[in-house]
Amino acid sequence: MSRIAYVNGRYVPHREAAVHIEDRGYQFADGVYEVIAVQGGRLVDEEAHLRRLERSLGELEIASPMTPAALKSVMREVLRRNRVHHGSIYLQMTRGVAPRDHAFPAASVTALVMTAKRLRVQAPETAEDGVRVLTLPDNRWGRCDIKSISLLPNILAKQRARAAGAYEAWFVDRAGHVTEGSSTNAWIVTRDGKLVTRSASHAILNGVTRQSAIRLAKASGLALEERPFSVPEAKAAREAFITSTTSHVLAVTEIDGTVIGNGKAGTFAGKLRKLYLDYAGGSGARA
Ligand code: PDD
Repeated sequence: MSRIAYVNGRYVPHREAAVHIEDRGYQFADGVYEVIAVQGGRLVDEEAHLRRLERSLGELEIASPMTPAALKSVMREVLRRNRVHHGSIYLQMTRGVAPRDHAFPAASVTALVMTAKRLRVQAPETAEDGVRVLTLPDNRWGRCDIKSISLLPNILAKQRARAAGAYEAWFVDRAGHVTEGSSTNAWIVTRDGKLVTRSASHAILNGVTRQSAIRLAKASGLALEERPFSVPEAKAAREAFITSTTSHVLAVTEIDGTVIGNGKAGTFAGKLRKLYLDYAGGSGARA
């Protein structure tokens, strides 16, 4: 079965899907995106993703191309045409096509592209063994809360991590505090068993998985603090982990070569991972 993409009102074969060379997303990275997980045919935390999308669009003064209801129906059609029950949907909106000029065009039509793909199953040993993280200076702009398609520092950081045999790079701000990963949010567990993750601000993307994990942790009585933490604190932590739509809750067992805890996924990360997977696969994910 061939994959189908949605491109500006049309469903087209994925291999033929294309946008105009003067799309401002292509020329200026002038756009926003979302990645939403699909579990058992349902979009996990759909409302929260759509709220963040609206917010990103608003911050960049890009007009929404359709109502949330219409967007939801296109997403379902993309999933249906691609027969995706477990996987993810990618949607991208840009300021549209206009002759190249840095300033906004007087009139533009927001461009919308959507693709869906089936789940790449995470090896069970990855969850058990956890992953390695490399720390790097945070060289991004001051509005990391906007889910912009402008991801050059993020892709360079991820590549540096991968080249060093690590799964993720954690960005570190000038004060020495971890902001977040290149495509994930960063967490630690203190020696006395408190979950710690940086509070939402312009310095990080407020991950939808992060928000759900916070809710689930609180509901199950886990102690939680939203505050910055330093690299030495992370290296000395009882556990560390990351959250994102595609990584869910994933243990970090090495930071810059320092083994965290006993080098295996810890009990807190394991518990939160289970809570999250149950939630994402269950009816709660509709909220
Ligand atoms: N990445 N921080 C950054 C910089 C991200 O790009 C992401 C998501 C997250 C986690 O957000 P969420 O829990 O809403 O997925 C944090 C997506 C998955 C991506 O770029 O593919």
